[in-house]
Amino acid sequence: MSYQVTLKASGKQFTVQKDETLLEAALQQGITLPYGCKNGACGSCKGKVLDGQVEHGQHSASALSPADETAGGTLFCCAHPKSDLLIEAREVQGAGDIAIRKVPCRVNAITKPSADVAILKLQLPAAERFQFLAGQYLEFLLKDGQRRAYSIANAPDQEGPLELHIRHLPGGFFTDFVFGTKDTALKEKDILRFEGPLGSLFLREDSKKPIIFVAAGTGFAPIKSIVEQMQLKKIHRSIHLYWGGRRPSDIYLDELCQLWAKEIPDFKFIPVISDALPEDRWTGRTGFVHQAVMSDHPDMSLYQVYACGAPIMVNAARKDFSSHCHLPEEEFFADSFTSAADLATN
Ligand code: FES
Repeated sequence: MSYQVTLKASGKQFTVQKDETLLEAALQQGITLPYGCKNGACGSCKGKVLDGQVEHGQHSASALSPADETAGGTLFCCAHPKSDLLIEAREVQGAGDIAIRKVPCRVNAITKPSADVAILKLQLPAAERFQFLAGQYLEFLLKDGQRRAYSIANAPDQEGPLELHIRHLPGGFFTDFVFGTKDTALKEKDILRFEGPLGSLFLREDSKKPIIFVAAGTGFAPIKSIVEQMQLKKIHRSIHLYWGGRRPSDIYLDELCQLWAKEIPDFKFIPVISDALPEDRWTGRTGFVHQAVMSDHPDMSLYQVYACGAPIMVNAARKDFSSHCHLPEEEFFADSFTSAADLATN
């Protein structure tokens, strides 16, 4: 048995099965409602039922008091429908709609797809959920008050651990620890704490414009998150992905990108290498990644660009794309942290 749910403010609708929660159904159908714990404890998902009836599962009275409930207050993470519904709910439109929190996590796995890149998988406590927008980042809270920022590389709607891509900068306080080149090394099961989600680099879903992604090095991480989220939400836009590195090994998930180019309609992948050595036998595009984009797209007036990587690349792309290729300034999105992470935060 399924019911129709209508959001009062936007008029958007989704269907919900009797045994599903309203939150589960909304997220699955591409409507992003805010949430925290997903188990009735935090109150982040609270809204109102204006018309119709729901049955509440177990929840804490601090998240929804009996008086709130009588007034129509509803925790969408533990409410099941008993009829068609008209609801009042805050939709997540941008980064400011998600609460920033401090969250503990456990290192689930550390793998090295290339000599100087580590992929870290982080497991959250069983009752903890972490909402973010594809493309955003988190900051590790380290001893002595230090922080290190890394983009999240998996899609928010994917179940499972959080994924981060970390490039080794020899001598760096945190990355030496991750790569085990210090006395102590990060290992599986270690506990870390982070704060997030942060950052304003996320997919603008209200646009249908073709997209150019420009990544340098581990600046690929937030782009991976966005592409995977687009696949999950079945968002179809024309995509050109340019990924630049010094040597071919810097394109450390080349196979994944080649697979996307085969499987996703209207998706092109262009790796660009600036300092290939003869033994690399590189036969693809060469030079600086942002220049490769400009030579392929002399007119970007109808595009959106998302750029991540070292500041020198991001700044050059921001300036040159608008002054030479007619990209409207408001259609260029980048997070300076990612680039800072590549060069300075370590
Ligand atoms: S998400 Fe925490 S109460 Fe619903």
